[in-house]
Amino acid sequence: GKVAVLFGGTSAEREVSLNSGAAVLKGLQRSGIDAHKFDPAEQPLQALAEFDRAFIVLHGRGGEDGSIQGALEQLSIPYTGSRVMGCAVAMDKVRTKWLWAGLDLPTAQFEVVEKESFSEEDAAAIMARLGAPVMVKPANEGSSVGMAKAADAAALAQAIEAALVYDDTVLVEAWIHGPEFTVSILGDRALPVIRMETDHEFYDYDAKYVTGDTRYLIPCGLSAEQEQRMQQLALKAFKAVGASGWGRVDVMQDADGQFQLLEVNTVPGMTETSLVPKAAKAVGLEFDQLVGQILEMAR
Ligand code: DAL
Ligand code: MG
Repeated sequence: GKVAVLFGGTSAEREVSLNSGAAVLKGLQRSGIDAHKFDPAEQPLQALAEFDRAFIVLHGRGGEDGSIQGALEQLSIPYTGSRVMGCAVAMDKVRTKWLWAGLDLPTAQFEVVEKESFSEEDAAAIMARLGAPVMVKPANEGSSVGMAKAADAAALAQAIEAALVYDDTVLVEAWIHGPEFTVSILGDRALPVIRMETDHEFYDYDAKYVTGDTRYLIPCGLSAEQEQRMQQLALKAFKAVGASGWGRVDVMQDADGQFQLLEVNTVPGMTETSLVPKAAKAVGLEFDQLVGQILEMAR
């Protein structure tokens, strides 16, 4: 039947989604699947009724947060990836961390800032509790949009104000002095871990998409036993938020060698050189086969 490839959208990650979606669309078409572009920013959702399945490649709010998934439930159209609840929880970095902390899954210490109650003096208290430096993140964004490192209270106040432009809730995390890794999930399986090496302050938007100077390491440099531990942790973290089907769990390793969970992406980047396709390739799964498998899991 007809497959709608949902991409574009209206979030801050629209440009990323346009690239991911174009790649997925081509991959499906190369396999002879009757796939069509569908941009919810430009087409009314009711037009989805003529499709038999949906492949969601929308990143960020409106596409990765359970809302489009809910609309597809209402239309009884099977769709790829996590269900409504898994998407909604994973989109919210604060609730994700509360959940993990409650299950004793490792994640960096953090403080939550709300727009309506934040005042500049709070920054010094937060800095004192977490220690310098810290990482500031809007609670519901992706691709490092709105994120900044802050080394003192004045910089922290400024970074919080900047993040509050994107979201009413902001997460401040203790800085993790160590490398970043990512674990791709396909069905019930964790794919080989990738290590990202960047000369930027952190793996930010430019390092992800603009400057092209990030080094992606597979194998990731961990011992086989450590890699397996990270994969098992990622699977637990993924299931804990209610995610399913496919996705990606971002993890760091701190100076003591401890793993620290960052977040779950329920609709990770899907250009041919994105992280999940890279991990799939490492187990012999080419891009077109990968998107075919993700589509087959639609329900
Ligand atoms: N949020 C981006 C698309 C990613 O995680 O790949
Ligand atoms: Mg993300």
